[in-house]
Amino acid sequence: MNLLVTGGAGFIGSAFVRLALATQPGARVVNLDNLTYAGNLENLVSIASHPDYRFVRGDIGDQPLVESLIAEEKIGAIVHFAAESHVDRSILSSKPFVETNVLGTLSLLDAARKAKLERFVHVSTDEVYGDIGAPAEADESFPLRASSPYSASKAGADLLALSYVRTFGLNLSVTRASNNYGPFQFPEKLIPLMVSNALDDKPLPIYGDGQQVRDWLYVDDHCRGIWAVLKRGGPGEVYNIGGNCSLPNLEVVRRILALTGRPESLMTTVADRPGHDRRYALTSEKLERALGWAPQMDFETGLRLTIDWYRANTDWVQRVKSGAYRDYYEQNYGGR
Ligand code: NAD
Ligand code: TYD
Repeated sequence: MNLLVTGGAGFIGSAFVRLALATQPGARVVNLDNLTYAGNLENLVSIASHPDYRFVRGDIGDQPLVESLIAEEKIGAIVHFAAESHVDRSILSSKPFVETNVLGTLSLLDAARKAKLERFVHVSTDEVYGDIGAPAEADESFPLRASSPYSASKAGADLLALSYVRTFGLNLSVTRASNNYGPFQFPEKLIPLMVSNALDDKPLPIYGDGQQVRDWLYVDDHCRGIWAVLKRGGPGEVYNIGGNCSLPNLEVVRRILALTGRPESLMTTVADRPGHDRRYALTSEKLERALGWAPQMDFETGLRLTIDWYRANTDWVQRVKSGAYRDYYEQNYGGR
């Protein structure tokens, strides 16, 4: 089946494109991405000349473009990653989050409906469930209680996507994953930012008391879960995808410092994030039971691999950290 992957130049989307072309012979992949600050064609160098791959620079909100790609490339399924994806940026400016995450998703849904597309996977996040009090773990029936403009825009998109199943019979599933980490992640999220700062001997900014808990999922485990849902997930079904690895932020940062051989004195407490969710926790039992998926990467190994990748790819890091990154860093951390 020919796939239209949206946001395939980003962190998770590019891992999915690389995985699909490496492990699914015959799968044609068309990657639609408008290359925001987070989109980077360097993430796709290893497959750029693959005969079954095509890159198209464009906005998911451009419905005529999406419709023409579906027709021209005989697309059977959309795997939808494209999004504004960082909570702190959604606090600085929310509108792009509604434009891409809600209206962009709507444009894809309408194009899919018109084309009577065979399959659609909408990639979402556990952040739509909001804060989860210990010891509970969110399953797919938990209420959506988004806290940030980012998670609110993702929750809005989830509901729209599911409404197209009920109202128009679209064969769509939703995945909700926990915090991803791995190579090629833009250094604005916790792990790549801390790794990159540690390698540069710069302060590591901890929001508040650092006791917030996240569940860590290696990016390739996430992509395998999405692939299983694409192939065998049910219409209107939601699947959580978690890494079985809940840790407080301070613990994650301590491990990064130990693995990079940097002193704990680099940790710096800064003002907390407004509306900061204390704890995310989810169960992926449904995906494990229904589709036989399980995370394979243990955190220690995954973190080591990730740090090794950042060490070995300083050119990539320096290029993405030039220019606009500095402005963002100053805007988000300068006044804290
Ligand atoms: P990312 O920010 O690294 O990449 C997003 C990609 O989307 C970029 O290539 C960007 O250029 C593209 N894009 C943005 N707006 C677009 C538009 N209007 N039209 C076309 N392309 C556009 O994001 P990511 O971390 O790879 O996340 C991918 C998806 O997974 C998102 O939907 C996100 O909500 C979801 N998710 C992420 C995580 C995580 O930990 N990063 C966890 C769970 C779910
Ligand atoms: P992040 O990677 O932004 O993901 P999430 O969407 O889950 O918030 O942040 C993960 C956790 O790390 C979250 O509790 C916020 C915290 N954090 C810091 O303490 N300092 C930082 O500089 C960043 C980016 C995140």
